[in-house]
Amino acid sequence: MKPVRKAIFPVAGFGTRFLPATKAVPKEMLPVVDRPLIQYAVDEARAAGIEQMIFVTGRNKYAIEDYFDSAYEIESDLAAKNKTSVLDKLESTRLSPGKAAFVRQQQMLGLGHAVACARDLVGDEPFAVLLPDELLWNPAAPCLKQMADTYARKGGNVVAVLEVAEDQTHKYGIVDPGATEGAVTEVRKMVEKPAAGTAPSRLAIVGRYILQPEIFALLEKGERGAGGEIQLTDAMAKLVGTQPFHALTFDGERHDCGDNAGFIQANIALALERPEIADSVKAFIRTLV
Ligand code: G1P
Repeated sequence: MKPVRKAIFPVAGFGTRFLPATKAVPKEMLPVVDRPLIQYAVDEARAAGIEQMIFVTGRNKYAIEDYFDSAYEIESDLAAKNKTSVLDKLESTRLSPGKAAFVRQQQMLGLGHAVACARDLVGDEPFAVLLPDELLWNPAAPCLKQMADTYARKGGNVVAVLEVAEDQTHKYGIVDPGATEGAVTEVRKMVEKPAAGTAPSRLAIVGRYILQPEIFALLEKGERGAGGEIQLTDAMAKLVGTQPFHALTFDGERHDCGDNAGFIQANIALALERPEIADSVKAFIRTLV
């Protein structure tokens, strides 16, 4: 079984729900406590053994490239002033030379199209996809690491899922579960954004994927699905039955940072885990509620 060495981060979206903040700043650069969203996704990929980070970007997303570049002025200034603890904070923004690649999605044709834009950089090997606005939080066992362990046992394709409320299923890719063994279930079918009352289950795909390269040929057909977009879920649905396909119920917290309320909740939840600020944040919340 080929190891998963590469990850795709689709980051071309406009971040409409966060306008005007995202007029000049990519939504992936919005901070949760003190780190931008994209950093959480990259850290998660690293923890799962991913070596090559592929960012599918768009216009006005330069900040992401700059963020993962070295910042000579800041670094030399901090070094000259012996501010090593601040310098250490930049460590996680460093990707090894040649291990970050950026490719543009010229048209916003959907998640499937974004993933297909990275096909030449991925080549003929399995790969991961991480949607950075889904902040999946389990520092001890990050989501993609849990999935990589499932992949090592089952091979094929693995998606992370979580149960959502019945009235929320229309927002997600939903899987039709088959035989289940602990947190791992076989995928029988998948449907993107099912109409109310038609979802095959409440198991929603939460933005983490391990996929086989055969998906690219399916994506390149450019077939439109929900919302008139080229949907990753539709292409995955076609792989079911031709390759092993499993859904792993993620063990951890999920914060939907593509949503204003979810983003604020992520900030509160993660702030409460930081010893240096937890007490003052907690005390402030108590004054409110
Ligand atoms: C995308 C996927 C969907 C998935 C969701 C998770 O939808 O198409 O299958 O459930 O991310 O956040 P989007 O949120 O881009 O509409």
